[in-house]
Amino acid sequence: MEKLKIQGGYTLDGTVRISGAKNSAVALIPATILAESPVTIEGLPDISDVQILSDLLEEIGGKVTYENNELTVNPTEMVSMPLPNGKVKKLRASYYLMGAMLGRFKKAVIGLPGGCHLGPRPIDQHIKGFEALGVQVTNEQGAIYLRAEELKGARIYLDVVSVGATINIMLAAVRAKGRTIIENAAKEPEIIDVATLLTNMGARIKGAGTDVIRIDGVEQLRGCRHSIIPDRIEAGTYMIMAAGMGKEVLVDNVIPQHLESLIAKMREMGVRVETNPEQVLVAGRQPLKAVDIKTLVYPGFPTDLQQPFTSLLTKAAGTSVVTDTIYSARFKHIDELRRMNAVIKVEGRSAIINGPAQLQGAKVKASDLRAGAALVTAGLMARGITEVTGLEHIDRGYSHLVDKLSGLGAVIWRERMTEQEIEQFQNS
Ligand code: EPU
Repeated sequence: MEKLKIQGGYTLDGTVRISGAKNSAVALIPATILAESPVTIEGLPDISDVQILSDLLEEIGGKVTYENNELTVNPTEMVSMPLPNGKVKKLRASYYLMGAMLGRFKKAVIGLPGGCHLGPRPIDQHIKGFEALGVQVTNEQGAIYLRAEELKGARIYLDVVSVGATINIMLAAVRAKGRTIIENAAKEPEIIDVATLLTNMGARIKGAGTDVIRIDGVEQLRGCRHSIIPDRIEAGTYMIMAAGMGKEVLVDNVIPQHLESLIAKMREMGVRVETNPEQVLVAGRQPLKAVDIKTLVYPGFPTDLQQPFTSLLTKAAGTSVVTDTIYSARFKHIDELRRMNAVIKVEGRSAIINGPAQLQGAKVKASDLRAGAALVTAGLMARGITEVTGLEHIDRGYSHLVDKLSGLGAVIWRERMTEQEIEQFQNS
């Protein structure tokens, strides 16, 4: 087991290249199950979620090769093998195996998904969608059993705007008989990316990226080659770090339109941000002004950037209020930031930050992926050394974090934990 160590206070300067989007990758990889010939996805990030999903495809008979961030899946010999627990529990996105296996085999048995603990994360809207398509769904001993005689197109209104439910229903509906209409669909760029792959495979989808998606089911889907979109959350994380500690950081391989809400807030704080079609330049500068943010569905401020942005706000003069309307309990990083000298209190769904505070290095624990990003951001801005444990969360979503930050001039490294530290970590 390893921990991350950061010697804070170093200025970031230079260029960082963004990897493919984690939250697209975790849907694109299961989507390959639907094809009847090999699918290649290029530009995948080197993260553990990609590895786990590739392993799961092999468990059901897929032939998988992965080289130079390019994954090729030959799905011809796949079978609808039950995947009750084990690896599926390691990530939230294993729920996409449900939609994809339903589309291909009309049946699936999948363990309830794991992933970050951010408060209640039900999948009732996924189930509602599957049932509307004619699937019988039962929950037995922690696994979901899905079976349909035939998948039939349906009109489905999502009661909650959900990225996962929108994609999962799309995955099943592309092979249903007739037309499916998803109303109140999520509009995140990752949904467009998945729809693009499915369309290249021969699916008929209209409206991805709007709140009404129409899908006309087809008999067969074929293999193709797909290039993934860049990770807007990884890009946003480096932009936030650059706003805190950057001289001039060029964030390369991004789609700036995906980051408009973040760019607007950073400019409101007094940060200089310039964009061109594939890059964002961030010039951090003192002093930063306090701002309020409220997380919303896309194109609003993303909940996945709320935690690192909170770290940045500790450096801003005045009182900032951060409200998370998507997840009720995405505040586990706050106690850790307090250990580092931040002045923050949580009231209901809001964190109230009083700044500026000079953060101090401390031993802190990442409780989830973006909490990890928040603590690394804080560590870069802090005086002295910060030690971050819980790296397995960070490794799920940030490709080559240490190399990328070292390339910008940060002093950051991984270190093996002692047995005593591992014991303390496991008991904390
Ligand atoms: N919700 C329901 N019922 C459902 C589905 C969702 O009530 O059936 C609620 C959730 O509890 C939440 C809200 O609806 O309050 C939005 O959830 P959504 O389904 O959109 O989230 P998700 O698909 O499970 C994805 C990302 C998350 C990101 C959210 C919101 C993946 C694998 N995960 O989760 O990413 O926070 O959308 O944008 O795509 C992360 O990357 O750190 C991460 C957690």
